[in-house]
Amino acid sequence: MKFFVDTADFNEIKDLASTGMVDGVTTNPSLAAKQGMDFKELIGEICKVVSGPVSAEVTASDYETMMKEADVLRKIARNVTIKVPLTPDGLKTCRALTSEGTMVNVTLCFTAGQAILAAKAGATFVSPFVGRLDDLGVNGMQLIEDIVSIYQNYDSFKTQVLVASVRSPQHIVDAARIGADVMTAPPKVIRQLYNHPLTASGLKTFAEDWAKTGQSIL
Ligand code: G3P
Repeated sequence: MKFFVDTADFNEIKDLASTGMVDGVTTNPSLAAKQGMDFKELIGEICKVVSGPVSAEVTASDYETMMKEADVLRKIARNVTIKVPLTPDGLKTCRALTSEGTMVNVTLCFTAGQAILAAKAGATFVSPFVGRLDDLGVNGMQLIEDIVSIYQNYDSFKTQVLVASVRSPQHIVDAARIGADVMTAPPKVIRQLYNHPLTASGLKTFAEDWAKTGQSIL
């Protein structure tokens, strides 16, 4: 499963990219708004440190303007992935862009039916939002299971399932168990994956015992 980081915070991206764990980045207008930086410049900087897909979202709601915005964004770097909303105009934009070889991430997917539309529109990625469904008391991971199993029925569906709105390490584990292609999580959640109290206490004991030997490997 590929790991994307869901943030527009350049320093966080740079730091996580240095671990070798980051396969791509997803941003959205809300995340970009927190940065107080020129959006196009920001995407350009992110693309310099991450070679995998970097999602940059259009902000228009009509096809013509989405295409114009996408054209500006895709010229920033070869790994820019255009993010479009799951609307009729968004999917029309998706079809036009992917047929020209541009990667597209269809976002704000909340049903399996919407995911079928995204696949039929030739999306590179579809982003179902698990956390926001969980917030409503709906099982977000059930949607991932449904989409993954539906896509497996059709060789013509090439769209990768990108699990978004990830809120916990358990979401990541569940996404991997189901066989989702990609997950995108905030830096904090990716860092939480490393943690276990027994790892920390075990390490402390090893360090104390080693100190008693008075030896040094170097
Ligand atoms: O990038 C879209 C998605 O991951 C947003 O997550 O936590 O705002 O629902 P969240």
